[in-house]
Amino acid sequence: MADIFYKSVIRIIKRIPSGRVATYGQIAAMAGNPRAARQVVRTLHTASDKERLPWHRVINGKGQISLRPGSGYEIQKAMLEAENIGFGINDTIDLDRFLWIPGERKKSRIKPDAGADEIIFRPTSRSDLNKIIRMERNEANRPYVRQWHREQHLNAIKSGNFAHMVIETPGNGRMIGYAILVGLENPDKSIEFKRLVINQKGRGFGRKVMRMMKTHVFEDIGAHRLWLEVKEGNERAFRLYQSEGFVVEGRHRESFLDRGRFSDLIVMSMLAKEYSNISRK
Ligand SMILES: CC(C)(COP(=O)(O)OP(=O)(O)OC[C@H]1O[C@@H](n2cnc3c(N)ncnc32)[C@H](O)[C@@H]1OP(=O)(O)O)[C@@H](O)C(=O)NCCC(=O)NCCS
Repeated sequence: MADIFYKSVIRIIKRIPSGRVATYGQIAAMAGNPRAARQVVRTLHTASDKERLPWHRVINGKGQISLRPGSGYEIQKAMLEAENIGFGINDTIDLDRFLWIPGERKKSRIKPDAGADEIIFRPTSRSDLNKIIRMERNEANRPYVRQWHREQHLNAIKSGNFAHMVIETPGNGRMIGYAILVGLENPDKSIEFKRLVINQKGRGFGRKVMRMMKTHVFEDIGAHRLWLEVKEGNERAFRLYQSEGFVVEGRHRESFLDRGRFSDLIVMSMLAKEYSNISRK
């Protein structure tokens, strides 16, 4: 398990592009354990040379270099400046400008006042739960997604096997939905896309999330298989998944109960090799 986390951290750090920085906590969260920032620090110490990591692009959550003057501080700063990353007061980097957001469009940086159609993921916190539970119970979503108690969401947030994520438009910081992955510690490298709810429907957000999630699961986490269940008759979700390359595997008969009526769940999946074929096209 630790090995899966370690490998994800390595893979994620390798993907930080030139001219961008990422924070220890951000990398830990992307690798599936938001509380493991210290392990990211340790990985950078032990693996930077061996794995040829762009170690200098990783900084702390305040936007500052953590190494001490005389122990790497100056060289890290020089390497970042060479990539046109600016330093402000107290040698702080403006994270609004320079933070790496996976899935952002190359070249065109998200402007702080833009964001109407851009999305980012961040780990769900306890204070998000009221909103999430309201979304889950909402009539537009309730027939298609399982209804969890607060405790179930809390356990998922705390567990290293889950990634519980809020989906936001960065410009206005508005929560537009949430997503849950399960199986980050699965030795078979098979991850379930457990839940996806988009509150502002039909605006292309679902497709964007699906694409970012595939990149995250196959490239950051290094999964072998991504799978999900969709309720029969949920045409919007089914079409989205099918058009994003998911293949129907079969169905779990009458395994979803909503208001006294059982429905089938259609099982769909994508393998890493299929993801590579699609993204090469
Ligand atoms: C399913 C859901 C995640 C899709 O997100 P979305 O942002 O509404 O979807 P998008 O706008 O990205 O549209 C994606 C595709 O869905 C299909 N679609 C959109 N609206 C549709 C509709 N009214 N009827 C049928 N298909 C529709 C289209 O194929 C569309 O792609 P296109 O516009 O490129 O042709 C979202 O609607 C949702 O949260 N639904 C309720 C909860 C749910 O069903 N979750 C999934 C459980 S498996």
